[in-house]
This record gives sequence, C-alpha cells and structure tokens, in this order.
Amino acid sequence: MRNISVFVNDKKIRTEVPISQTLLDFLRSNGITSVKRGCESGECGACAVLIDDEPRASCITLTLQADGKEIKTVEALSTRQDLSELQKRFIEVGAIQCGYCTPALLLLAGHYLNTAVSPLEKDLREAISGVLCRCTGYVKPVEAIKKEIRLD
Ligand code: FES
Ligand code: FES
Repeated sequence: MRNISVFVNDKKIRTEVPISQTLLDFLRSNGITSVKRGCESGECGACAVLIDDEPRASCITLTLQADGKEIKTVEALSTRQDLSELQKRFIEVGAIQCGYCTPALLLLAGHYLNTAVSPLEKDLREAISGVLCRCTGYVKPVEAIKKEIRLD
C-alpha cells in the first residue's frame, strides 16, 4: 500500500491505495462511476479521463501514476445546478443511445473545444476517435459538437 494525494474534479483526496490498483478502479471506488469499464486494455476509450489536462485511459494507468496530479472526469463539465452547453447539445440532437461511451465522448470533445484555436471537423473527429461508440456511428455526436461551436 502507498499513500497518495490527488485532485479529482477539484476535490482533494488523500488516501492509501494498493500499488497495483488501476486509476479506473480507484475512481469507481470513490463514486466516479461515469468512468466506464470496457476492454480494460486501452482500446475502447470508455474509461477516458484527463490527467493534468491530457487524455488518458484510466484502465491502463496506475493510481500511483496520478499521485500529485489533477484528474478530470465528465462531472467537471457541469455544475450541480446545470449541464454544460455541450451536454445540452448532445441531448437536443439525440447523440446518446446506450450512453456507455457518452461520458468519455463528452470529456474528450470538451477538452478539444477548450484547447483548439480553430476547431475543424476533421480535428474534432480525431480528438474523439479513441472512444469506440457501437451505437451512433458518430453521426449525432459530431453533429452535436459542431452545433455547439457553430461549425458548418
Ligand atoms: S476500458 Fe479503458 S480503454 Fe477500454
Ligand atoms: S451510445 Fe452506445 S456505445 Fe456510444
């Protein structure tokens, strides 16, 4: 066991964790269940998080590797009172089917929109390409993201 200290969506967590624990297990055991368990081998993207503002697969990241760092999940996009504009666009457009990939898609799309100087459709498609969506064919999610940034 090792002591760690991380910020998860701006909340500091200091605790002791097993050295082999994945960040995915750590987050889910701390109530962050928007981070989904899929392939557990870094392939599907359902477990995506931001660590110090960089997209990472939490299933192949040890909790110890996040020690001292800032972790963001989809919960960081909204407040307790309201959804983010991007989340609202997903609902309006009907970009959610089974919803399993949706937290990761929103997180990576939000990260792209926050960091892109001149957003382009090909770049936003690339930014979300690490998340496998089995339901939508990406048509509606891309439409929702483009609507959010008024990209025609
Ligand atoms: S569960 Fe992590 S990439 Fe699939
Ligand atoms: S909405 Fe079902 S996997 Fe994307």
